[in-house]
Amino acid sequence: MMEEGESISYLTQQQAAEIDELLMGNLGFTIDQLMELAGLGVASAIAEVYKPGEYKRVLVICGPGNNGGDGLVAARHLHHFGYNPYICYPKCTPKPLYSGLVTQLESLSAPFVFIETLPEELLNFDILVDAIFGFSFKGNPRPPFDDLICRMASLREHNQENQKPPVIVSVDIPSGWHVEDGDTSGEGIKPDMLVSLTAPKLCAKTFSGPHHFLGGRFVPSSIMQNYKLQLPPYPGSSMCVRIGNPPQIPPKFPADNVEADPFLQFQKWYDNAVAAGVNEPNSMALSTASKDGKPSSRIVSLKKVHQGGFVWCSNYGSRKGREISENPHASLLFYWNALNCQVRVEGFVEKVSTEESEQYFCSRPREIQIAPAVSKQSTVIPGREVLNQQRKELEEKYPEGSMIPRPNHWGGYRLKPERFEFWQGDESSIHMRLTYFAEYIDGRKEWRIVQ
Ligand SMILES: Cc1cc2nc3c(=O)[nH]c(=O)nc-3n(C[C@H](O)[C@H](O)[C@H](O)COP(=O)(O)O)c2cc1C
Repeated sequence: MMEEGESISYLTQQQAAEIDELLMGNLGFTIDQLMELAGLGVASAIAEVYKPGEYKRVLVICGPGNNGGDGLVAARHLHHFGYNPYICYPKCTPKPLYSGLVTQLESLSAPFVFIETLPEELLNFDILVDAIFGFSFKGNPRPPFDDLICRMASLREHNQENQKPPVIVSVDIPSGWHVEDGDTSGEGIKPDMLVSLTAPKLCAKTFSGPHHFLGGRFVPSSIMQNYKLQLPPYPGSSMCVRIGNPPQIPPKFPADNVEADPFLQFQKWYDNAVAAGVNEPNSMALSTASKDGKPSSRIVSLKKVHQGGFVWCSNYGSRKGREISENPHASLLFYWNALNCQVRVEGFVEKVSTEESEQYFCSRPREIQIAPAVSKQSTVIPGREVLNQQRKELEEKYPEGSMIPRPNHWGGYRLKPERFEFWQGDESSIHMRLTYFAEYIDGRKEWRIVQ
């Protein structure tokens, strides 16, 4: 890793083009090879920060040139890394290299989506890979890419009902930016991650997102010497290397840094956990108790924070389901080891509406939709073969492309908090604790803060 801005080289557009020519000239590389290594570098950087357990659905938006090809390769690797890549490739390039990449993705059943069928706000995805324009792009983006770029650029403003927008990963150049001057209008894409290829281009100096990586581990020493390139060494066998520091652990919460709304405080900490690369930051221990007060805990996955509560999905007939129906008091616990933080949330649980459960069910990948229809949570099963047989029957009944109906016993729960506790450990052993209590004043819920 190298300190950004210190001793790293940035290339002009002209230098980037020359280096590509050299690589594919005397140095004997083919375009296929460079694209393969670039795409692998992009997929590796994504996997380093955004784990597939939480960031499953990836939309890779590919432009007509080499940058789009890098995106197609990245999509293939992401599939093998456990993500569900969807590809939007509105201007397929009719050359064997590109049609081969398309065939490879089709053979993995990676869906190609039409631009017309993309939801306006692109919120159905966890990651958007911007592989539209690379370092050779000049001028203003033309349709249909201009509209896609605008939609990505406006995502930052979207925080309706606490729904998190997808993260944006730009391949080499954030599309629409000037290759040397950056986001000159100030209204362009603001990626969360930039994966520079070969060496960062000048525009990368103005990148201010949390994750800057370098990929394309193929630069021979002759090029390094001729261009006096200062690049960070790749660690071990990695295909990418971070440039600059990873996001820092959040500062301790001094009085002036505390949000009045505990949901905002939670979102801040959650974002930090994601940025710090915590594994499955949405895993939370859910504790319920039977009507006679006997407790039980298990891990569930936070779906989202929505309508004033924390939502997860489960089998309504499970032990937790039975206990919640008898006793709606429950508690959630998040523990983010890398940040030495925990958050406790206590309150009442209710079922979400049928429509909301339908939405969660439809957003699940097909193989996961089948599971709740087959699995009887918290019951003794006659054997794995019986479950496999049931799965097979369901797959035959609902072939690829058909809708698997949501079983009535599967749906969402929402915990509406009455109390939050944010806790952060400190090497000095003077740990910090911040508690929010719900108080009802004239029927309105307000939060009292105790530090
Ligand atoms: C990382 C992780 C995530 C999980 N996510 C869920 C979930 O979102 N919903 C769920 O019902 N079970 C989830 N489980 C399984 C539960 O921990 C538990 O085994 C199951 O729900 C049955 O619990 P019960 O018998 O106490 O009802 C998860 C387990 C792990 C380890």
